Amino acid sequence: MKTMAQYSFFILFIILLQAFGFDASSGSKADKEYELLVVTVATEETDGFKRFLRSTDKYDVNVKVVGMGEEWTGGDIVNWPGGGQKINLLKTALEEYKDRDDLILLFSDSYDVIFTTGAEEIIRKFQEMDANLVISAESSIWPDPTLASQYPEPEVGYPFVCSGLYMGYAPYFWSALTYRDIADKDDDQLFYTQLYLDSSRREEWKIKLDHVASLFMNLNGARDDVKLLFEGANSMLQNTKYRTVPAIIHGNGPSKLYLNQLGNYLANYWTQDKGCLACGEERIDLRTIEETEYPVVMLALFIEQQTPFIDEYFKNIEDFNYPKNKMHLYIHVNVMLHYHHAKNFAAKWENEYLSTTTVIPAYERSEGEARDEALNLCNEVECDYHFVIDSNVRLFNPEILKRLIEQNKPVIAPMVNIPDKLWSNFWGEVNLEGYYARSDDYVDIVKGNRKGVWNVPFVSTVYLIQGKRVRSPNTPSYVSAHMDPDMKICKDLRDQGIFMYVMNIYEAGRILNMDGVETSHLHNDLWQMSLNPKQWEEKYIHPGYWTAKDPDTDVELICPDVYLFPILSETFADHLVEEMENFGQWSNGGNQDTRLEGGYENVPTRDIHMNQIGYEKHWLYFLSHYVGPICEKLYWGYSGRHYAIMNFVVRYRPDEQPSLRPHHDSSTYTINIALNTQGKDYEGGGARFTRYNCSCIGLKKGWTLMHPGKLTHQHEGLPTTNGTRYIMISFIDP
Ligand SMILES: *[C@@H]1O[C@H](CO)[C@@H](O)[C@H](O)[C@H]1NC(C)=O
Ligand SMILES: *[C@@H]1O[C@H](CO)[C@@H](O)[C@H](O)[C@H]1NC(C)=O
Repeated sequence: MKTMAQYSFFILFIILLQAFGFDASSGSKADKEYELLVVTVATEETDGFKRFLRSTDKYDVNVKVVGMGEEWTGGDIVNWPGGGQKINLLKTALEEYKDRDDLILLFSDSYDVIFTTGAEEIIRKFQEMDANLVISAESSIWPDPTLASQYPEPEVGYPFVCSGLYMGYAPYFWSALTYRDIADKDDDQLFYTQLYLDSSRREEWKIKLDHVASLFMNLNGARDDVKLLFEGANSMLQNTKYRTVPAIIHGNGPSKLYLNQLGNYLANYWTQDKGCLACGEERIDLRTIEETEYPVVMLALFIEQQTPFIDEYFKNIEDFNYPKNKMHLYIHVNVMLHYHHAKNFAAKWENEYLSTTTVIPAYERSEGEARDEALNLCNEVECDYHFVIDSNVRLFNPEILKRLIEQNKPVIAPMVNIPDKLWSNFWGEVNLEGYYARSDDYVDIVKGNRKGVWNVPFVSTVYLIQGKRVRSPNTPSYVSAHMDPDMKICKDLRDQGIFMYVMNIYEAGRILNMDGVETSHLHNDLWQMSLNPKQWEEKYIHPGYWTAKDPDTDVELICPDVYLFPILSETFADHLVEEMENFGQWSNGGNQDTRLEGGYENVPTRDIHMNQIGYEKHWLYFLSHYVGPICEKLYWGYSGRHYAIMNFVVRYRPDEQPSLRPHHDSSTYTINIALNTQGKDYEGGGARFTRYNCSCIGLKKGWTLMHPGKLTHQHEGLPTTNGTRYIMISFIDP
């Protein structure tokens, strides 16, 4: 009976349409002007919901939101059947449209949906399908697999109903919505599945599934069917299996994270021509805010492992261009070696920060507990932001905190990586077990070929969290019995539907390579030369070195074929001298020398060899990487290994050994680096080349002489008359 009634209604409708001059069956509805209204049910303004609205705004699509602020009683639709409440809410909200014959209604989920086109195209595609109601299709059946056999066999395409997206002429839409009653807790997809499987209704009402995703793309299970297409000013998603460009993309079920990735491009978010169009859309302009009104930041520092360049870490933090009286400081130091660094830093600034908390190794806080503690502290003081910085990152851009705040995202990390490596502080994708997976765009983002603010499933090392997003009782936790703290908090955030971003539009800093950290020396950073070359160079290479290395600049010639140029920083010179004095085993200056292969030194000095302090390997790296290129620039046509057996620091003192008699070196060329300053640390000293009667006196600290070792360049060490003079010598290519 009910079917008959509906049938009569349908006939009546056709007659009505024909009465108004339209013929539904021949598709001439296309001649009529239809309005499109998108309806969605959302009870919370999640990040996904905001993304949905952004996309409909981009294409001027009219949206009616139903249920905002209402208590959700439709069940846990992620894990269990449910969602009947959606239909009941729609019934109330859409009754006023049930007779509108100039209206097309489109239901869309909103937490996990992105529109990629406007009403005109959506209506056109809908009308091409010659149906009154079109429901989206997917490859897996839910919630009742036993219904599979009742489905009509599709010729091509995805076979099963997905009720996250459907559309139809308003009267049909209404009929579908009301074809039977449904309880709030019942399953809406089952409701529509049963409607579709009712073959008489299906045919009478002309209900079709969008099998080939011409309108609706459900991503679950179809990941390999789609591909992002970049066409100049347009980024779109193509279904390569069925050669369609779907209008609306749905990250149903576990494909939500994949939708987040696609959302980095779709709906005019990023295009090949214009780059990141969405960057700054939600921007807060700090320049328009008085410093006294700046957001309050909880600065949370974590020193969980022995870390090179720790002084530079604290220096970066001290240098942030952000008022310290708008920041709280929390430090967890879990390494005895860095206890004093942390204590000193906290003591130095405790009067400037709003508060300081230092948690030392003796407190025996685990990493996860400490991270939770800091986040809870942030909540207690009602911080606006929580800024996490681990000890293995060097943030050399002092503006970066402001740049992050300005983006106004729930969680945002500045992209940092190990220089020239793909190791970074974000993942483009996580696999089903929650571990790292490489996204298609990962390399382009790390290398900066694509710049923007990217929605990603995992960030670590340095990131900013909006305080209001992690307030109790929704505070995520780092503590887990079987997961790293970073993985745990990101999982919590993902589970809450909170979007995390990584930003690579500004250079922010770098991650240190933490492999093979030496801890047994006075100045362990000296040993970082090849592990963290960029950071090492900043600390230890003389800034003038790069000019000297430039093929287009002249290097100063002081005597025939004797050049001088800056090479190592004053810090290097100080650290090397301190390291040698700390070691302390200076040779006695006699001819017998057990350190040498032959046991005999013809022209002995008071010295310590690099291999005695375990620095030989590093020094040889230095010779080939930094010294060799300049040698080959100055003595053109020469190419050597730039290798040396004799590498040593010499100490000249009036009462010990003040000078060295004329001699040749067993080298093709020699470098002679000044490690301290004439007039300040010593008097006298210098090198004299006997053949030319030409001397270099008072060589600046960190500068080197470079000269041929023998034959033409016999030389002597001039007497040091007061204090102590140190030089570093290498006999290169013996
Ligand atoms: C070497 O040079 C010094 C000073 O430049 C000069 O006093 C001395 O006479 C020179 N000696 C010879 C042998 O030319
Ligand atoms: C040596 O240096 C010290 C301190 O730098 C100074 O007091 C002293 O007078 C100097 N001696 C000579 C002989 O120049």
